[in-house]
Amino acid sequence: MSERFEADLVFACGEGNYLPAVDVWLVIDVLRATTVITRWFELGGTELYPVKTPDEARNFVLKLRERGSSPLLMGEVNGIPPEGFDLGNSPVELTYELIQSHYCGVMSTTNGTVALNEAALSGSPVIAVSFRNYSACLDYALTIGRRIGLLCSGRKRRPSWEDTICAGAIIEALSTKGELAMSDSAKIALNLWENRGDNLLEYVKKSEHAIYLEHIGYKKDLAFACELDVSTVVPMLAADKEAHTILRSVSGNARPYHKETESVKPEMKPAKRADPFEELLTYTKKPSEYFYVRKKEK
Ligand code: MLT
Repeated sequence: MSERFEADLVFACGEGNYLPAVDVWLVIDVLRATTVITRWFELGGTELYPVKTPDEARNFVLKLRERGSSPLLMGEVNGIPPEGFDLGNSPVELTYELIQSHYCGVMSTTNGTVALNEAALSGSPVIAVSFRNYSACLDYALTIGRRIGLLCSGRKRRPSWEDTICAGAIIEALSTKGELAMSDSAKIALNLWENRGDNLLEYVKKSEHAIYLEHIGYKKDLAFACELDVSTVVPMLAADKEAHTILRSVSGNARPYHKETESVKPEMKPAKRADPFEELLTYTKKPSEYFYVRKKEK
C-alpha cells in the first residue's frame, strides 16, 4: 500500500495568524526572502538570524558585534535596503567573498522573516524554501513527518502569486511520493503550478511584487529566483542559546549546483533527522497535535 501524505497551505502570513497543526512548515517567500536565504547557504553561510523588524535587526547586530562577531545586516523595507543596512534583499548581490567575511547574517524583511518567526511559534520544525531548493527541502521534511504545511509569506498579509506557484510545485512533487490528501488551498496552488505553461519566469513576472521589483531595478532577481532545484541546501530554523530563532543548513552542499558546469547534481548527504530545538525543549508528539514542552530543569 502506498504511503499517505497530507498537504495544508496558508496563503499569507502576518503576526498572530492561526496556523493549523502540521508535522513541519515549509515557509516560502520567493521574492525574495527565502531565495536570499537559500543563496546565503549555497555560498557557504553558516548562520542567518531572521528577525521581524529593521530596528530589531540593528539592535541585535550591535549586540553580536559587542561580542566580537561581524554579522552582515541585510534586508529590505518596500524592497530597498533600510538605513544603516550593509545590504538589501537581492540574492544576486550576495557573493562568495562577502559571505566568507561574514559567516553570520541578520535579516529583516517585510513578509518572509515575519512568516518564519510565526511558523517557529507553532512548535513544529520550520524550513525555508524557494524554487531553488524545494525538492531537497521536501525530501528533508519527509524525514520529519507526513503532514506537510506550506506557509506562503504572501505580501502584506495577502496572498502572493509567486509564493502560491512555488507551493504548487512542492505539492506536485509530494503527490509523486504516494497518496496525497490536500486542503482546498493546496489544490488551488497545485492548479496554479500546473497551469504555468512553458515559461516559469514569464508566469511569475505577472505578480504584483515582481512588477514592483522590476520597476525599482531588481529585474535580475526574478530570473534568479525562478531557477528550479539548482540547490540542495536545507535551511532550518533552530533556537540559539538565548532562544533567538536562527537558520542553519541541515543538509545539502554549500556550493551552488550549476547545470552547465556539473553533469550530476551533488548528492545530498543522507539527512540525519535533526530536531533543532533539542538543546532547549523536549519534543513530544500527541495523536492530535505537536507541542513543545520546556525541558525539565535538572
Ligand atoms: C518579503 O519579505 O516579502 C520580501 O523579502 C520582499 C522583498 O525582498 O522585496
